[in-house]
Amino acid sequence: MEFKHQPVMLKECIQGLQIKSHGIYVDGTLGGAGHSKSIAEKLSKKGLLIGIDRDKEALKAAKETLKDFENVKYVHDNHDNIKHILEDLEIEGVDGILLDLGVSSYQLDERNRGFSYLGENILDMRMDQTQSLTAKKVVNEYSEKKLAKIIYEYGEERFSKRIARNICEYRKTKTIETTKQLVEIIEKSIPRAKHERTSC
Ligand SMILES: C[S@@+](CC[C@H](N)C(=O)[O-])C[C@H]1O[C@@H](n2cnc3c(N)ncnc32)[C@H](O)[C@@H]1O
Repeated sequence: MEFKHQPVMLKECIQGLQIKSHGIYVDGTLGGAGHSKSIAEKLSKKGLLIGIDRDKEALKAAKETLKDFENVKYVHDNHDNIKHILEDLEIEGVDGILLDLGVSSYQLDERNRGFSYLGENILDMRMDQTQSLTAKKVVNEYSEKKLAKIIYEYGEERFSKRIARNICEYRKTKTIETTKQLVEIIEKSIPRAKHERTSC
C-alpha cells in the first residue's frame, strides 16, 4: 500500500520553525516526510535534516519522497532517544524540532498493521515492527489491573475497568486474536447509550 499522509498544519509548522538555510532541524516523526520535504526545500547544502521514525515502512517512504535531497540523515529509533541520537551523530545543538505526534494514515489504513478496527485484522499495533510486544500479547497476557490502568490512562476511557474485566473473562475460554474480537468485547462493556459512531 502506498504511504499517503496529508501533512497537518504544514504552513503553520514551517512558519513556526523559522528555518535558516544553514540550520540543523529534526523531524522526530518523519512519517511519509510531508513536513520534512518542506523543511528540506528551505535548506542549503550546509543545512541538515534529521528524520526519525520508529516505523521502517515510514522511513522507506520518506527516503523515496526525499530522494532529491542529499543533506538528510535517517534514523530508525524512538524520538524519546533524541539525546543519544544527536550524540551518535556528533551534533551538539539543533535549530528546530518538529513532532507530529500520533499514527499516520498509512498505519491506520494498512490492515496488516492491526491499528484499524474496521474488519477483522490480527491485533498487532506495533509502530516499530522490529519489537516483539504486540497488542495481542498485551490483551492476552497482562493482568486485569494493568489492562484497566492502560485503557484508563492512555485511552482516557471511563469504562476501562469493565473492559479489562471482560477481556480477562473472554480469554479464559478463547485467545483474543483479532481487532474484531476486541471490538466486540469493548462494545459489550460499554452501555449501549454511550456507543459512538466512529469512522476509523
Ligand atoms: C502523524 S505521522 C507523521 C507524518 C509526517 N509528519 C508526514 O507529514 O508525513 C506520525 C509518525 O510518527 C511515528 N512515530 C510515532 N511515535 C514515534 C516515536 N515515539 N518515535 C519515533 N517515531 C514515532 C509514526 O511511526 C508515524 O510514522
